[in-house]
Amino acid sequence: MKKMKWMLGLVGFGLLAMASQTLAKDACITCHEKISPGQVQDWRVSRHAGEGVSCDACHGDAHSSKADYKKAKMPSEQVCKECHEEQFDQFSHGKHNFGWKAMNAIPATHMAPDELMEGGRGCGGCHNMGIKSDEEKAEQLAKGYRYQNNSCDECHTRHAFSKKEAKNPHACQQCHMGYDHPQWEMWSSSKHGERYFAKLAGDLPEGAAAPVCQTCHMGDGSHNNHTAWGFLGVRLPLPKDPQWAADQVTILKALAVLNPETGEPGPVYPAVAALDLARLTEEAWQKERTKMIATCSQCHSEEYGKEQLAMGDAIMQKVDRIMADAIEVVAGLYKDGLIEKPADYPYNYPFLLTFMETGGEAGVKDASKLSYIDQVLLQMYMKHRMRAYQAFFHVNPDYAYWYGWNEMRKDMGEIQELAKTMRATHKAKH
Ligand code: HEC
Ligand code: HEC
Ligand code: HEC
Ligand code: HEC
Ligand code: HEC
Ligand code: HEC
Ligand code: HEC
Ligand code: HEC
Repeated sequence: MKKMKWMLGLVGFGLLAMASQTLAKDACITCHEKISPGQVQDWRVSRHAGEGVSCDACHGDAHSSKADYKKAKMPSEQVCKECHEEQFDQFSHGKHNFGWKAMNAIPATHMAPDELMEGGRGCGGCHNMGIKSDEEKAEQLAKGYRYQNNSCDECHTRHAFSKKEAKNPHACQQCHMGYDHPQWEMWSSSKHGERYFAKLAGDLPEGAAAPVCQTCHMGDGSHNNHTAWGFLGVRLPLPKDPQWAADQVTILKALAVLNPETGEPGPVYPAVAALDLARLTEEAWQKERTKMIATCSQCHSEEYGKEQLAMGDAIMQKVDRIMADAIEVVAGLYKDGLIEKPADYPYNYPFLLTFMETGGEAGVKDASKLSYIDQVLLQMYMKHRMRAYQAFFHVNPDYAYWYGWNEMRKDMGEIQELAKTMRATHKAKH
């Protein structure tokens, strides 16, 4: 009997707790309906609203007024994991999970204003991808930045959190566009993209084939995304062709992955290994290539897909010949003392990872140390080499020639001319 009463008490307490929780939930909505109605409406159209996943499920219930709004939790991916463990696990093994860390591994990041990192614009607007450690979050908070705690809302945006939105190629557009990775522009103006848009307009039958970003990069609906070459377009083990291998070594030196004098691993090597910036084994590279060929084979013959991808490798080989030549020309100017080594360069050798901030102090651009020829070299690598080979993989004729190959030839002309002038001026002075 005594035990019964005790148990009844517990049930009673439970009901009370449930009632107060319902009240807290309702309070969030009634109040926020007045202060941010669009936000509440967005949540109302989500699957979450129908499933009873309310504001407090993600933000906690510690805040209830304007005065204490900072008590509302800004949910990290760990909160989504509580109910979506499968997607969380896939994501944590994918390339996107390295976005924030890769950004911070680049010297240029630490030379630019914080607004362009933690502020959610510039680098940080796109690289807010990846589960942050407690230290990384504390660092953000210490700089006064309270948001950007979640990567999951980058493709299915809050608070609709819609699967359909994430399957739309526009979900990738904000980040996969522009200067050094114009995948949106290349795909959308390729035959693959043209078909997608024709289908949208109803000008192709519903069942017609039209691959979008997700078809080729999240094929099985998995949140784990990798490619064979990766962004930097370099690999260890090196390609088999000796000239191409030598050219890739030259590029790796300019990335300080290798020491230009000794060929031993340089200061950027550890980041390359830890953040998967390049495939380090033949198997890792081939695994992704094989997966991609299988994807092409859904709509093309296997041989066709293989050949098309091999052509991408072949153009990269030719592009690397120009790239390595250009690096050598600039390296010669360093060697002969025509360019003074910027203090933040690891070696007396061209370095591509300070981007356009060549020789500047943090936040203060020191124009006197700025070497224009280095900037042309950077543009050749970051903008034009990227386009020349990425365009082959995304089947875009114009980017492959005019925005890629053609611009590399132009950069080469400029570098040769600048080097000639620099040498002539130097000779006249001495
Ligand atoms: C009495 C009104 C009221 C209630 C109840 C209320 N909020 Fe708020 N909430 C606010 C106000 C006001 C702000 C600050 C908004 C601003 O500055 O524009 C805010 C801010 C927030 C923020 C943003 C915090 C930030 O740092 O930007 C979140 C998240 C939030 N509320 C969630 C909730 C949740 C979850 C509940 C229920 C547990 C809740 N709110 C209940 C009024 C309320
Ligand atoms: C499924 C989880 C989830 C639910 C449910 C949810 N939110 Fe959020 N909310 C988020 C995430 C994720 C962020 C972004 C956090 C960040 O950027 O650090 C966020 C950010 C916010 C912000 C601050 C940023 C902004 O855009 O203003 C407010 C305010 C907010 N939510 C209010 C609400 C309210 C009100 C509800 C209920 C109607 C709600 N949230 C329900 C996940 C959720
Ligand atoms: C308390 C549990 C819970 C939490 C926390 C939660 N969700 Fe959900 N979510 C669900 C349920 C239940 C569904 C509907 C069934 C399903 O698709 O699994 C759902 C569905 C979804 C969908 C599919 C929507 C669609 O259009 O079909 C997405 C995307 C999603 N959630 C993302 C998130 C993200 C991102 C977070 C973290 C910010 C999050 N969820 C947090 C329970 C949760
Ligand atoms: C418009 C969005 C956007 C901006 C702005 C941006 N990035 Fe990126 N970044 C990306 C995308 C998308 C990729 C992957 C591209 C690819 O693989 O072709 C990437 C790739 C990288 C990589 C290579 C990662 C790897 O694993 O190979 C590094 C490092 C990097 N970015 C650093 C930066 C830094 C530093 C800045 C600012 C100076 C910056 N990014 C600005 C979107 C952006
Ligand atoms: C790069 C974009 C992107 C990011 C980032 C992303 N998702 Fe998704 N998500 C998708 C796509 C695309 C789908 C649809 C997959 C499919 O079924 O084809 C999806 C589907 C989902 C679904 C619905 C699964 C189902 O089958 O109903 C959930 C739940 C989900 N994501 C949760 C998450 C969580 C949690 C995170 C963060 C750890 C996250 N997503 C990050 C693109 C993304
Ligand atoms: C918020 C910005 C953002 C969005 C949205 C986004 N990405 Fe990314 N993506 C990145 C960044 C940053 C990287 C580089 C991460 C790294 O490796 O450090 C990346 C890398 C990738 C890579 C790997 C490239 C490699 O190096 O192998 C693929 C593939 C990719 N994204 C596909 C997609 C697809 C498909 C979508 C849309 C469903 C998408 N992304 C949406 C920012 C974004
Ligand atoms: C028809 C298939 C297909 C479609 C559609 C497609 N891609 Fe790709 N993508 C590829 C192939 C193939 C590669 C090169 C893979 C390799 O390295 O072998 C690639 C490479 C990439 C990379 C890494 C690039 C690099 O620098 O090496 C990113 C990021 C990427 N794609 C994003 C996207 C985005 C975003 C979209 C949509 C706007 C898209 N892709 C559409 C097939 C596709
Ligand atoms: C979902 C189906 C689908 C997938 C997957 C797909 N394609 Fe396509 N592809 C098409 C269609 C349809 C066309 C238009 C055919 C035409 O031009 O008559 C096309 C066109 C092309 C073209 C241009 C052909 C021409 O004659 O102009 C190339 C090259 C190509 N695809 C390569 C690839 C590669 C490489 C992959 C894998 C990375 C791939 N495709 C994956 C459906 C697909």
